Amino acid sequence: MRRPLLAGNWKMNTSLTEGVDLVEALIEQLGAVTDHEIVVCPPFTVLGALAPLLAGTSVQLGAQNMFYAANGAYTGEISPLMLREIGCVYVILGHSERRQYFGEDDALINRKALAALEHGLRPIVCVGEVKAERDSGRAEEVVVQQLRGSLQNIKPEQMQNLVVAYEPVWAIGTGDTATPADAQSMHATIRHTLAELSDAATAQTIRIQYGGSVKADNVDELMAQPDIDGALVGGASLKASDFVRIVRFQ
Ligand code: PGA
Repeated sequence: MRRPLLAGNWKMNTSLTEGVDLVEALIEQLGAVTDHEIVVCPPFTVLGALAPLLAGTSVQLGAQNMFYAANGAYTGEISPLMLREIGCVYVILGHSERRQYFGEDDALINRKALAALEHGLRPIVCVGEVKAERDSGRAEEVVVQQLRGSLQNIKPEQMQNLVVAYEPVWAIGTGDTATPADAQSMHATIRHTLAELSDAATAQTIRIQYGGSVKADNVDELMAQPDIDGALVGGASLKASDFVRIVRFQ
């Protein structure tokens, strides 16, 4: 009932030419995939070149960040309207790298999530604990707090356009992944929290992605878990054949 959502987070990688080459390879190798939803999130500078290439394909466009205002004196920022205009359907918000290097907190991420929904973008809101929090047994508490802070005041009818990505920070870019059982346990906690923030029926419709060193050789066992509805893929989304294998998980 929840359509799996596989998204590539290219981070601050790819020149214009590299981005175009990657998407052309993806389209060619993917063929028609209709049962899974596929998104690529390139840097802002590449979005405009990719939009016409992706039109009419099964690959949708997403951005990696945005500001909450529609326009105005916010030097260096990109608004939800700009992302809509260029063809984005999704936007990643509150990635741990934004939290760590740019000081984003749950209150800011909440404003961004509300703005994204208001302007018809689907936010992929990222949550996840750091290693010390997991080691001290506080992972669930931290993730629940991030969810409650980032998803305040979202109306139940807007909730189904939201995606949550659980990305344990210690698993990002490290080659370490949560075990499928640990990931499932956190995803179940997240769904329970989403039910508290909306209602049980709505929570059943919300996709919860796992992220953190998802690769071609571990995606199948992660996706076999009942509450894992997709993957947010960094490093492995930069190589077309790897991402295609991930999208075609079994
Ligand atoms: P990774 O990154 O797949 O390279 O670990 C995931 C992410 O940061 O979204």
